[in-house]
Amino acid sequence: MANIVIVYDSLRGNTKRVVDVMSELFTGAGHAVKAFKPKEAEVADLEAADFLLLGGPTYHKDLINTMKQVLFKFEKADLKGKPGAAFASFGWSGESLGILEDTMKNLYEMNIVVDGIKIKQTPVAAKIKKEVEPFAQKILASL
Ligand SMILES: Cc1cc2nc3c(=O)[nH]c(=O)nc-3n(C[C@H](O)[C@H](O)[C@H](O)COP(=O)(O)O)c2cc1C
Repeated sequence: MANIVIVYDSLRGNTKRVVDVMSELFTGAGHAVKAFKPKEAEVADLEAADFLLLGGPTYHKDLINTMKQVLFKFEKADLKGKPGAAFASFGWSGESLGILEDTMKNLYEMNIVVDGIKIKQTPVAAKIKKEVEPFAQKILASL
């Protein structure tokens, strides 16, 4: 059983729905999932993760500010070589994905084992599941 840690923020619920769908897929496969908002996530939580996911929406062609801020705090964590991936909820451009993934690769020197995914905003969980499932399956296969 792997310890999967997710840190994300969501202003209007779309990213939260993605996290809920992913968490269900991971727990259904027998893994432990801890999902944190930026304020709740501590360096020790990240270091304890077997797989670390960072996610956040794009607002005004940028990553949501609360996630940008917490990326400074996470610089104190020893994440070198840690397996992980990024995800983003978006409307039309989705710059948040690249910002997260670049930081994970270049600043934290994480091992990005699965390419990040952008999920188009929708209230429909079934649509999210269809998009997220192949991504989650790749993560599961890497554990
Ligand atoms: C004021 C505003 C600005 C936005 N700017 C962008 C943008 O620049 N690019 C984009 O892809 N989506 C943009 N979006 C769409 C959001 O990324 C999308 O709704 C996302 O699912 C929000 O996630 P959340 O509900 O978790 O906060 C914007 C939405 C709003 C309300």
